[in-house]
Amino acid sequence: MPATVIVGLQWGDEGKGKTTDFLAEQVAMVVRYQGGDNAGHTVVLGGEVFKLHLVPSGVLYPHITSVIGPGVVVNPATLIAELDELAARGVNVDKVRVSRAAHVIMPYHVALDRASEARLGPAKVGTTGRGIGPAYADRAARIGLRMEDLLDPDVVRRKLERILPEKNVLLTTVYGLPPCEADSLVEQARAWGDRLRDHLVDATWLVQDALRRGDHVLLEGAQGTLLDLDHGSYPFVTSSSPVAGGACTGGGIGPLQVDEVIGVMKAYATRVGSGPFPTELEDGLGERIAERGHEYGTTTGRRRRVGWFDAVSLRYAVAVNSVTSIMLNKLDILSGLEEIRLCVAYEIDGRRVEAWPSSAELLARARPIYETFPGWAEEIHDVRSLADLPENARRYVTALEEQAGVPIVLVSVGPERTQTIERAWRPMRHRPPVPS
Ligand code: GDP
Ligand code: IMO
Ligand code: MG
Repeated sequence: MPATVIVGLQWGDEGKGKTTDFLAEQVAMVVRYQGGDNAGHTVVLGGEVFKLHLVPSGVLYPHITSVIGPGVVVNPATLIAELDELAARGVNVDKVRVSRAAHVIMPYHVALDRASEARLGPAKVGTTGRGIGPAYADRAARIGLRMEDLLDPDVVRRKLERILPEKNVLLTTVYGLPPCEADSLVEQARAWGDRLRDHLVDATWLVQDALRRGDHVLLEGAQGTLLDLDHGSYPFVTSSSPVAGGACTGGGIGPLQVDEVIGVMKAYATRVGSGPFPTELEDGLGERIAERGHEYGTTTGRRRRVGWFDAVSLRYAVAVNSVTSIMLNKLDILSGLEEIRLCVAYEIDGRRVEAWPSSAELLARARPIYETFPGWAEEIHDVRSLADLPENARRYVTALEEQAGVPIVLVSVGPERTQTIERAWRPMRHRPPVPS
């Protein structure tokens, strides 16, 4: 029963969408296990660009069952819009399934997320403004609505009668916003429930049955390890668990059902929103890489902050996710640079530090210690084997692999599914048959 986890090793936007889409060809099911429509996963297919927020990135294959797992927070309006848009573009969305246990992002979550950020001013987290934090907070406080509740207006009303008085005090008194009306929210929920009824399932059993049949299941993470609520640079993190462990709780599988963890990273680093970023390039070079790499948020359109690759955080991410192999994306973006830097350690308060400290305070004082590599001039979009890469590109990939301590099995040299270098050894194709 093979289950493979795909996890971002940096601050998100590592190209997880491309990786999932690329690997999905070989599997039966793709499950999103956390996050919500804060995610923006891009898949490029034959020149067509698909930007996915909630629907797993395997949806473009007709044979895939796409599952939004119990660990996801769902804004039904976004999901419906995304399903409609995909259908209008000829993608079959009949096999999209949504966990009945996934929590609902309500309009007051979105309003509170935005109002709280505005109030924090310069201390803001720089959230995507999608209501993610407030929705997960209500889930933990046991006052959230679950997707299955949308099927019963009486349940929605009963829950809202308990929740709204407190939310409305916050909205009106603390933030000076209009209150939410139960009647209109109940009607809204009824319409969402009617539209999504056929997609709602007990996702945990759906996934377990697939594994029992021997189907290959891919678990797709959103965000990245350094944005993890527990393991990232708190408080500048998201409110869920992007790490591979989150695939178990959020996907409904046990740790021993995972037999492969594929880490996704790109050849440099980016970060959206606030928070420490030791290797950030705040100069023309950062701008140049951002332009060449189209580093603008898929969800918010914000320009991503850009920096050199940080191997300190890579070693941490490999450890905390038990990464078994890596896909390296966007190597093509570094073509044309005279030299490339790789951060191998930090200096913090005069001391050399090799281990990534998740403390935002320590990270803010970290100065990167770099190794410098010669760059390469050639464009590499059309390269399909490692041996055909310019020697300096190969050297850089080898250095990243040595830092990671696990093999880089796939290297991406362009956004298209086909612009991918596969190494001879590849775990998903060469796994020994499952004993009967
Ligand atoms: P995700 O959130 O991790 O799925 O990543 P995003 O989709 O937000 O951002 C990655 C961006 O890089 C997308 O626009 C992809 O189409 C693009 N991309 C992915 N891999 C490559 C690559 O190897 N080269 C280039 N040039 N673009 C890539
Ligand atoms: P994908 O899946 C990059 C960042 C936000 C902010 C912090 C908290 O496309 O990699 P939130 O709205 O989650 O409460 O914001 O997390 N963030 C992302 N950054 N890629 C993402 O998703 C992100 N999702 C959230 O910018 O700093
Ligand atoms: Mg993204």
